[in-house]
Amino acid sequence: MDIVNPALNEYLLAHCTAADDVLRDLVEETRVATAGAAGMQISHDEGAFLTLLVRLVGARNAVEVGVFTGYSSICIARALPADGRLLACDVSAEWTSIAQRYWQRAGLSERIDLRLAPAVETLRALPGDPVIDFAFIDADKTGYPQYYEELVTRLRPGGLIVLDNVLRSGRVVDPSAQDAADVAVRAVNDTIAADERVDTVMLPVRDGVTLARRR
Ligand SMILES: C[S@@+](CC[C@H](N)C(=O)[O-])C[C@H]1O[C@@H](n2cnc3c(N)ncnc32)[C@H](O)[C@@H]1O
Repeated sequence: MDIVNPALNEYLLAHCTAADDVLRDLVEETRVATAGAAGMQISHDEGAFLTLLVRLVGARNAVEVGVFTGYSSICIARALPADGRLLACDVSAEWTSIAQRYWQRAGLSERIDLRLAPAVETLRALPGDPVIDFAFIDADKTGYPQYYEELVTRLRPGGLIVLDNVLRSGRVVDPSAQDAADVAVRAVNDTIAADERVDTVMLPVRDGVTLARRR
């Protein structure tokens, strides 16, 4: 489902801060090296949006759930201060080996701590203190309710959680769409809308992006 018509899509992509060589090369290598999985990578405009949000929040301590080949982690980590940290969660050694090369090339390796394990285990093992400034959730959709809960309890007041793919290509409004991922994303969407711990907005960016800011 295209929310934005193709001509407007080209126009808006041309009017974001331009991607640098690192991101452009990463898109190309991901396309060649991961074949059908390359569609999982966030788009250029969404990456520019993440960079802006991290800067606006003034984040120092960030978490990403779902690294793949590292596009979104670069967009987040480069907006952190030099002593900032991004905890990057994934289960794929193969895909994140590409990410690690590009983090190196972008001069961001020192800022990014990769944890190869199911993200729910990594998040549950974190201290309970509310010290996270920014989090991006873009991994297995069935995990979204748990990822949101583990992160929102550790978010500092004013901190922001961003969730990707919250519209599931329109399946959230199709009652016949009942696979586990559809059910989980509808559930987390409903939880966030009713969650008094956060102010939230769901935006028609790409496949739907929710922002939830801790009160
Ligand atoms: C949509 S991709 C992430 C795309 C990435 N944000 C980007 O910009 O390129 C989803 C990622 O989630 C990872 N993943 C799947 N299940 C996971 C789990 N249980 N814990 C952590 N990561 C998981 C996959 O290995 C994959 O790399």
